[in-house]
Amino acid sequence: MNRPKGTKDIFGDRKLVRNKVIDILKLSARIYNFKEIETPIFERQEVFVKSVGETSDIVSKEMYAFKDKKNRDMVLRPEGTAGTIRAYVENKLFADPNMQKLFYLGPMFRYENPQKGRQRQFTQFGVEIFGEKNPYIDSEVILMAKFILDALGLKYELLINSLGDKESRDNYSKALKKYFEKYKDELSKDSLERLESNPMRILDDKIDGKKNFVKQAPKISEFYSEEIKKYFNSLTQFLDNMKINYKIDTNLVRGLDYYTDTAFEFVSKSDAAGSQSTLIGGGRYENLVKQFGGPNISGIGFGLGIERIVNDVENTISKEEFKNPIHAYVLNISEEAQGATAGVVQLLRSAGFVTEWNSKPLKLQKAFVKAEKSLAIFNIIAGAKELSEGKIVVKHNGKQETIEITKLIDYLSNKVDNNHKGNKNEKN
Ligand code: HAM
Repeated sequence: MNRPKGTKDIFGDRKLVRNKVIDILKLSARIYNFKEIETPIFERQEVFVKSVGETSDIVSKEMYAFKDKKNRDMVLRPEGTAGTIRAYVENKLFADPNMQKLFYLGPMFRYENPQKGRQRQFTQFGVEIFGEKNPYIDSEVILMAKFILDALGLKYELLINSLGDKESRDNYSKALKKYFEKYKDELSKDSLERLESNPMRILDDKIDGKKNFVKQAPKISEFYSEEIKKYFNSLTQFLDNMKINYKIDTNLVRGLDYYTDTAFEFVSKSDAAGSQSTLIGGGRYENLVKQFGGPNISGIGFGLGIERIVNDVENTISKEEFKNPIHAYVLNISEEAQGATAGVVQLLRSAGFVTEWNSKPLKLQKAFVKAEKSLAIFNIIAGAKELSEGKIVVKHNGKQETIEITKLIDYLSNKVDNNHKGNKNEKN
């Protein structure tokens, strides 16, 4: 039996890299003072239809939709923002000043054509900030995304745009429709459909987006109100002052309908990135909280695909850095001292040393082969004679010493950095 198309089994080195990435994401959330929220993996279909948008690819083509036993329309969540806002409103989190900066981490599902960096089940880490609309909050979210990619040592380009307010978007859509009507013969089938439903999406179509007449289409900036212009200028000025590199990309429209004002993407510049090179995407949504029946509160956030980040990290960082060492391998080499050997293993684990052993006694030579393969820092040889005298043999860096068992923990602790229990590193 095989796993479903577009899913992955994650184990070995990749799992270690992934765990490290998740550690850095959680640490970043802590540093930027976000509180974690967990929402259901399935939601009522309307949660996404009314936010992500009926005509978006995600809702119209990619949802894992099903009816439950009471004939209700459910979907496996394709993204994290809509469910978070549903929960924010349903649990009246808007009334709690400490719950205005939320982050989440979990599986999302989109029925897409799988390729490198694009899966049907993937994992998103996302953040949302609720409250007033303020360019400094936009920059806080952008800077946090940048902080994460920098902490992981990744190469990227930051693209930003303003999608204006609802009025400028509507006017822009009308103007685009009029413009693209002239090029109907040159548009793909998908773009022709979008011409009716959502002409802005033609701009970031993978194939049509590269055509000259699409590049020369009217720009959203021509439809900004004075207020929108001023807002976007404050944001870019602040980014300039902070010496953040970015590019304004007027064709950046994002694939979800809820965005207004600031939108941004961090695109991978690593050689290893597949064709799906957007690592992080986000933006502001002026109307979502109200649309879900909450107060008139603005929000902004981003989502990041852990698998895409891991693909890049795996190619830029030495995997050795991510490996958690085994501290001790206990060589069980005698039938009669098996119980005492198991006791030593337990003693080491209780003291926080990552420990492995061969539970079935082996000849010394064979036990050594196993110990070597485990890459443990210390090999601990539990000979029956030494154990009967309350002693044990420790082999480390080619040197062998016989130690009293009562002093074993102190002896090992002196040789490893034990700042973190269960995550001890060898001292130089
Ligand atoms: P999105 O651009 O659809 O935005 O997805 C965000 C990130 O999720 C992408 O940049 C990518 O890293 C990852 N991703 C998306 N689809 C896939 C896939 N099929 N396979 C692997 N990774 C994928 C959102 O979902 C918004 N909710 C982000 C947001 C939060 N905006 C405001 N707040």
